[in-house]
Amino acid sequence: MVDLPLAKRLALALDTPDLDSALDLVRRTRGAVGTFKVGLELYTAVGPAILTALAKEDVDVFLDLKLHDIPNTVMGAVQAAARHEVALLTVHASGGPAMLKAAQSALAGKTMIPGASSTRLLAVTALTHLTGNELAAVGFSGGPDEVVVRLARLARDAGLFGVVCSPEEAALVRQACGSELAIVCPGIRSKDAGPARDDQARTASAFEAVKDGADIVVVGRPIRSAPDPADAAARLLDEIAQGLQARA
Ligand code: C5P
Repeated sequence: MVDLPLAKRLALALDTPDLDSALDLVRRTRGAVGTFKVGLELYTAVGPAILTALAKEDVDVFLDLKLHDIPNTVMGAVQAAARHEVALLTVHASGGPAMLKAAQSALAGKTMIPGASSTRLLAVTALTHLTGNELAAVGFSGGPDEVVVRLARLARDAGLFGVVCSPEEAALVRQACGSELAIVCPGIRSKDAGPARDDQARTASAFEAVKDGADIVVVGRPIRSAPDPADAAARLLDEIAQGLQARA
């Protein structure tokens, strides 16, 4: 298991359209949330200014750009992100072994990059909205379990810090890849959310995800859409603590 302070195990997805609403959310939830995720919507809207603003808030930044390109291009993008001292950065595992190794090697040359030592790479396995049928439609052989484990092994073998998978595969990935690989799970929905899973298909509660091996859970709408986001975040942090205790 990766050693992390409790609050850093909860990553809030700042999927907001502008800087002010993102910073408002950070200030309202920072008592419980230790990691803030900047994804495609916010980064496309605001650009690197969001990273500068979050650095001033002194919080851990998870830059979720899901890089997927030829090795040389990804290497350059990883170096550029590392200069912003982001704690976590995502690439797509399906970019393949050469791309993953190039991404990781960009951090190995970190003496040339101020701040790079703090950046760790995560490989996205199969996105949590994809069902077995959809994975087959894009050409992956095998069901989600098989696809995710295969991609997680690629990431581990390339020396990455961790992987992103749905909570449904957390236990399998832990079993297949060992205790050193960090497991990060989006697709978090409470048991009583019923059909309210938004566009997520492979989901579980924060408690279940952590009990099954997740080191960090990523939560967006269940916090952002709650009447009191700070309270929702605090409850999720409790669930994470209980999940850690429930691990065998
Ligand atoms: O609102 P919700 O909790 O569904 O947000 C989940 C977040 O995790 C989103 O920012 C989404 O981009 C991200 N994510 C995901 N599935 C992955 C990787 C990242 O949902 N496999």
